[in-house]
Amino acid sequence: MLYVTRKMHFSAAHRLHNPALSDDENLGIFDKCNNPHGHGHNYILEVTVCGKPNPATGYVIDLKKLKKIIDDEIITKVDHKHLNFDVGFLESVIPTVENLAVAFWNILYTKIKEGKLYKITLFETETSFVEYYGE
Ligand code: NI
Repeated sequence: MLYVTRKMHFSAAHRLHNPALSDDENLGIFDKCNNPHGHGHNYILEVTVCGKPNPATGYVIDLKKLKKIIDDEIITKVDHKHLNFDVGFLESVIPTVENLAVAFWNILYTKIKEGKLYKITLFETETSFVEYYGE
């Protein structure tokens, strides 16, 4: 089994806020990330696909095709957007790095036909990131 990864970048704003909780509770939980008008991150998204190389091409998945899928399905929808307001598939989702990784997985899982989606790695900062393997 081989694992191939495409790394992508996007920049977006978000606010961590749960409308079911009071403003004080939100501030207590999310602290600076609860800033009323949001704040921004330069995210790094890594999408890993696993499989055996196709004997005809030598590719598990053509990385140009994988890039286009990630661009079309994710990057164009989130880059330079406010994740709380501008992204249909994130409606009513608290845009933590965890929830973003799961949302991206759910979209990409159905779109990747060569190989199989194996892992989503999403960096919110240089030092903080999540990995999601589905389920
Ligand atoms: Ni943040």
